[in-house]
Order: sequence, then C-alpha cells, then structure tokens
Amino acid sequence: MRTRILVWLMMALVAVVAVGCGIQGAPNFAQAEHTPIPPLPPATLPPEPTPEPGAATVAAPVGCRVYPADLIAAWVAAGTPKDEPFTFTDLDGRTCQATFEADVLPLFTEMGVWYENSVPCTACHNANFVGTEANAGMSLETYEDILAGSYRSGPDAQGNDILGGGNWEQSILYDRLVVKKDMPLGRPADAPAKGLEILAGTPVGEEQ
Ligand code: HEC
Repeated sequence: MRTRILVWLMMALVAVVAVGCGIQGAPNFAQAEHTPIPPLPPATLPPEPTPEPGAATVAAPVGCRVYPADLIAAWVAAGTPKDEPFTFTDLDGRTCQATFEADVLPLFTEMGVWYENSVPCTACHNANFVGTEANAGMSLETYEDILAGSYRSGPDAQGNDILGGGNWEQSILYDRLVVKKDMPLGRPADAPAKGLEILAGTPVGEEQ
C-alpha cells in the first residue's frame, strides 16, 4: 500500500516537471530560433591624416646613382680622403660629391650592397680577427682598419695594402670584389660585378 502511494506521488511529480518544462521550454525554443541577428554597425575607416600645412609635396631626388665598386674606385683615385669630400661621376653623367664616412664605409658594413641580402664584409672582417690568421686577419670596420689592410699581426700593426697604393685596378680589393667576384664570401657567380646600384653623395653645383 505504501509503495503504491509512493509510485503515484513520483508519477505526479514527473508529470508536474514535464508540464512545467513544456510550458516554459517550448516557447523559449521557438523564440530562440527566430531571434533576428542584430545588424552589424556600419564599418568606419579611421579618418585620413591631413597633410601638414606647408609640407613639401614633391620630394627632391636624393643622392646620385652609382655602383658600389665605382664609388670605392673614385675614393681610391682621390687619394682615400678621410673627411674631405671626393667627386665621382654618377650613372646619369652628373658630377657628384661623397664622403668616406657617409658613403664609402657603409659599403663594407651594411648588408645587401653587393647582391640581394649579401652579408656585410664586417661580419667576417672585423676587429676580432686582426692578429689572427682567420678571415685574412683584416678589419673593414673603420677608415684606419681599411687603410691598415690584411694579415695584420695586431691592432696597431700595418698589414698588406689592399688598396693598390692608390691604383684601384692593381688593388687586392678590386681583384676580390670585381675580378674574382668572390667577396663577400659565398657570393653567387651571377651577382653583378660592381654590386647593386645605390644612391650616394649629392650632385655638385646644382640647387639643393
Ligand atoms: C663569410 C665571411 C666573409 C665575408 C662576409 C667577407 N669575407 Fe673577405 N675574406 C674572408 C676569408 C675567409 C678570407 C681569407 C681567404 C681568402 O683570401 O679567400 C677573405 C679575404 C678577403 C680579401 C683578401 C685579403 C688578402 O690580402 O688576400 C679581401 C680583399 C676581402 N676578403 C674583402 C672582402 C670584402 C670587401 C667583403 C665585403 C664585400 C668581404 N671580404 C666579405 C671571408 C669573408
């Protein structure tokens, strides 16, 4: 008798729960299915920066077109000046002026000068190797280093002249860069003999 009452009670409970769910659940489902997707807010672009009043609209051409090896040749022909500007003729036939620090040194210290992504000479030719047999015991990091040459016995020692005593085409540097074309080490055979065209110096006697 007791179990029967219990069974009835449980069934009643189940029925109440089922009805409750039915009443509450069904409309919610229907509602959820038809909820409209709210429209996205219209996309807006950040405002265009307005040019500064008075800003130059056309950039003046900067530098003279030249091949790296030709620029070094002009610097050697001028007597390898340290601070004074030297002149060279650019690929447009203009007479231009450059300086060692701004225009020649970067050809040894920067990448991508001799062919695309070429290693800087100073990756191998730096002060760490002066006084050793490795990498020709040569640093190309500074003016003094370049003039001190290769196979130096120490930081204060003069080595073999790589600049041909002022005669570019007789120089070890010319031989390795332009004739043998094997520096920077690992240079592909089809890389241009004089390096990649660069912009260097400024035209002489033209309005700046
Ligand atoms: C990956 C390392 C490496 C890079 C980068 C490199 N060199 Fe060298 N270079 C060497 C080694 C090693 C030697 C010594 C062996 C030889 O003569 O081939 C050498 C030798 C030389 C010599 C000959 C010196 C002599 O008296 O015989 C010159 C000149 C030279 N390098 C110039 C350059 C220049 C200029 C660059 C950059 C355009 C450059 N090297 C980049 C490794 C390198």
